[in-house]
Amino acid sequence: MLYLLVRNVLRPGVVNPTHLAKSASVTKVTKRSMVHQEGLPKLPVPPLKQTCEGYLAMLQPIVSEEELEHTRQLVTEFVSPGGVGDRLQRSLERRARKVDNWLSEWWMQSTYLDCRMPVPVYTSPGVILPRMHFQDRQGQMRFAAKLIAGVLDFKQLIDSDTLPIEYLGGKPLCMDQYYQVLSSCRIPGPKRDTVVNHTLGTTPPTHITVVHNFQFFILDVYNSDGTPLTVDQIYMQLEKIWNSSLQTNKEPIGILTSQHRNTWGKAYNNLIKDKTNKESVRAIQKSIFTVCLDAPMPRVSDEMYQSRVAAQMLHGGGSRWNSGNRWFDKTLQFIIGEDGSCGLTYEHAPAEGPPIVFLIDHVVGYMRRSEMVRSPMVPLHMPQKLRFNITPEVKKDIENAKQNMNMMVHDLDVRVLLFSHFGINVPKQHKLSPDAFVQMALQLAYYRMYQLCCSTYETSSLRMFKLGRTETIRSTTTESSKFVQAMDDAGTSNTEKVALLTKAIQLHRDNTRKAIYGQAIDRHLLGLKMQGITELTSMPDIFMDTSYAVAMHYHLFTSQVGAKTDCVMCFGPTVPDGYGVCYNPMEEHINIAITAFNSCEETNAAKFSRAVETALLDMQALLEQTALAGR
Ligand code: COA
Repeated sequence: MLYLLVRNVLRPGVVNPTHLAKSASVTKVTKRSMVHQEGLPKLPVPPLKQTCEGYLAMLQPIVSEEELEHTRQLVTEFVSPGGVGDRLQRSLERRARKVDNWLSEWWMQSTYLDCRMPVPVYTSPGVILPRMHFQDRQGQMRFAAKLIAGVLDFKQLIDSDTLPIEYLGGKPLCMDQYYQVLSSCRIPGPKRDTVVNHTLGTTPPTHITVVHNFQFFILDVYNSDGTPLTVDQIYMQLEKIWNSSLQTNKEPIGILTSQHRNTWGKAYNNLIKDKTNKESVRAIQKSIFTVCLDAPMPRVSDEMYQSRVAAQMLHGGGSRWNSGNRWFDKTLQFIIGEDGSCGLTYEHAPAEGPPIVFLIDHVVGYMRRSEMVRSPMVPLHMPQKLRFNITPEVKKDIENAKQNMNMMVHDLDVRVLLFSHFGINVPKQHKLSPDAFVQMALQLAYYRMYQLCCSTYETSSLRMFKLGRTETIRSTTTESSKFVQAMDDAGTSNTEKVALLTKAIQLHRDNTRKAIYGQAIDRHLLGLKMQGITELTSMPDIFMDTSYAVAMHYHLFTSQVGAKTDCVMCFGPTVPDGYGVCYNPMEEHINIAITAFNSCEETNAAKFSRAVETALLDMQALLEQTALAGR
């Protein structure tokens, strides 16, 4: 098999398992994607004054006038010539000249690898695919076999360097993340984690891992001549795995990966002291991806079905159900339940949602096209079962992980809203940006529930730049706050409301544009802060200020992850008293996943979901009534 090392091997934060001489591995190959990557612009450092002005404007709708006045003084000091901001800005600009991307390593470390919270719920998103109607276990196996073949077909695009380059607003995007999601895994550390990418090694993996009833197997998915196994062959191998993992009383070793990262870091070192365990763990880490064949989950009403699957994708349902049927550190885990539930979860450090859903769209397309063709009966080896020696200490760690997982499961409140009244068609008819329209509906829903505007995060892409990840669009603006306050005000006419909505949407679009062109405020502020940590003895006052804490406490953490497939991504809230909202706007409907924590009395995913539905409908009615009246 031909493995092309197409990505920038020096990507920060990712470990090359064999510590290849980096330049040697790069010069061996001439690649279209390498040329593409090298041609991408570098992430700019925005002007300091522009960011500071943007910061004050962003604070206006979310902090009090006194707080804002205090922050204005701190900002004035910070930007003054010769002031600390000025100094940090110059250092940041120097850093930007030296490295491929001044942000990406800091981002990966600070947001993911240094984060000590468990990866399920807290950082790893889930994706819910449409329900499958398997008639029997064979149906589940056939589906899994096709899915595996579909992912291998996608991998072929990467291996053969034929992955189509994506564009945003007519500009080519950085494709690096596509090269990070297969054959990679997060490794826990006592204080900081790492990510290892085995595609870069001298012997890239040819196996996936399959887990059933908490038992892990290595499934070799390539023949000795390098051709991938056919769907039929994979199906037969899955059958063998199923039949040799029927016992349901096995220790759920994988649940260890759901722990707080410090705890897992310690337990990991303890686990791999044993040689057999170490080899088994390495086999999982090295595998191309993982397939979790899940046991059926408790039945729920049709209305609750998608919400239950979202929870299954995020955490597996608890120690009694499928939480032990995972290796949460693995970058990509496809989940296929006996009851027709399917989707995936992915470890977020190496990539964002868009490459993952692009992969899903490819796999779904492949599965539609592919039929089970009987292959010549070449006998294949029995997939190898991975052994684990469960010492009393490991057993104790597993019990502890089970308890913590069950608490996490009880705490997560998930609601999937399949909004069927309209999709992007309606805002487009009114010449409004569909994404900004949904964001304004979220603002309205939140305002109606809490009578205030909150700090809101929307993810935007920075992939126009080499090794670009994400930037924040601040959806709460002075214009959005005027609109939400006016919407239920009897004294404001519909024409005025539409004007306010249009203005708020326009500002959101302008902010989106700034974000994707690397001119927004949040990553720049992070850069200045990180630079401050590197070179100052104390943190500049603007980062120790109440306004800064308010701005970074996202009561609404949102993201659009659009896909062709009728799926939806979901993720947990980022603060104890907030919501996580992810949506896939389709032509005539919108899939929205909302999460909150049950331990917070003020939040309620079901209530918020109803408020979002009403807000979308009210905004549509407002636009239509006003358009009719104007005719
Ligand atoms: N009138 C008519 N149509 C309009 C319009 C208007 N005023 N404004 C926008 N549209 C159209 C657009 O042209 C686009 O058309 P297309 O579907 O034919 O391409 C469509 O509406 C959607 O545009 P819009 O809703 O404005 O948003 P977007 O697709 O540009 O997405 C972001 C905005 C921020 C989501 C996107 O830029 C982005 O960065 N995505 C990445 C998010 C991410 O990384 N998430 C990861 C989470 S892990």
